[in-house]
Amino acid sequence: MAQPLRHYGVAIFLLALSFKATSTSTATHDGHGRKSLHFTLYQQETINKTLYLIVKGVTGPDASPTTSPFGSLFVNQDLLTVSPNSSSKVVGVAEGVSITSSLDGLINVVTEKITLELKHYKGSISMLGTAHNIEVFDLPVVGGTGDFMFVQGYIKPSLLTFDSPDIVYRLEFHLYWPPYVAEYHFSY
Ligand SMILES: *[C@@H]1O[C@H](CO)[C@@H](O)[C@H](O)[C@H]1NC(C)=O
Ligand SMILES: *[C@@H]1O[C@H](CO)[C@@H](O)[C@H](O)[C@H]1NC(C)=O
Repeated sequence: MAQPLRHYGVAIFLLALSFKATSTSTATHDGHGRKSLHFTLYQQETINKTLYLIVKGVTGPDASPTTSPFGSLFVNQDLLTVSPNSSSKVVGVAEGVSITSSLDGLINVVTEKITLELKHYKGSISMLGTAHNIEVFDLPVVGGTGDFMFVQGYIKPSLLTFDSPDIVYRLEFHLYWPPYVAEYHFSY
């Protein structure tokens, strides 16, 4: 039985090629205290080492790279690196759960806590959303801690390489802080 690629799906083989692999980050301020931050990291995942199928679902298609039975539960704890090479610098950890939530086996509800130690930003980001195994999707950021307190935005994942059991995902982070964060930090 092939193991599924879990939540980030496969479509993505195609998409991955259209992105330039960089790990640069940009931060901008608009003069009203609003900030945004954009950067790219690489999630290093190994089946049966950092990603496990904990419970196999009850009905629907069998587990494959694109589908998993309804109700399947996956758990991961993956390192995040600055380049696709798994030996490159580690700057974060993604801990999460994914549950197959559509009867056709294509959609998963995904939640990840992403702990980051970047040059100027330390803290965690919480992400919650649904991932489709074939279509493109964004995963909403629902908050954070530390330097990411009150953060909003989204994460765009894409599959970069799959050389079983090793999987590398490219994660584009698009983070935005609401204006009241500037007041919270600087006015009080
Ligand atoms: C990954 O990085 C290591 C250590 O820097 C290097 O030895 C190896 O050749 C790199 N692999 C690839 C595929 O570039
Ligand atoms: C992971 O472990 C399961 C259960 O032991 C096995 O069926 C599956 O083939 C393994 N997958 C890989 C890629 O090692």
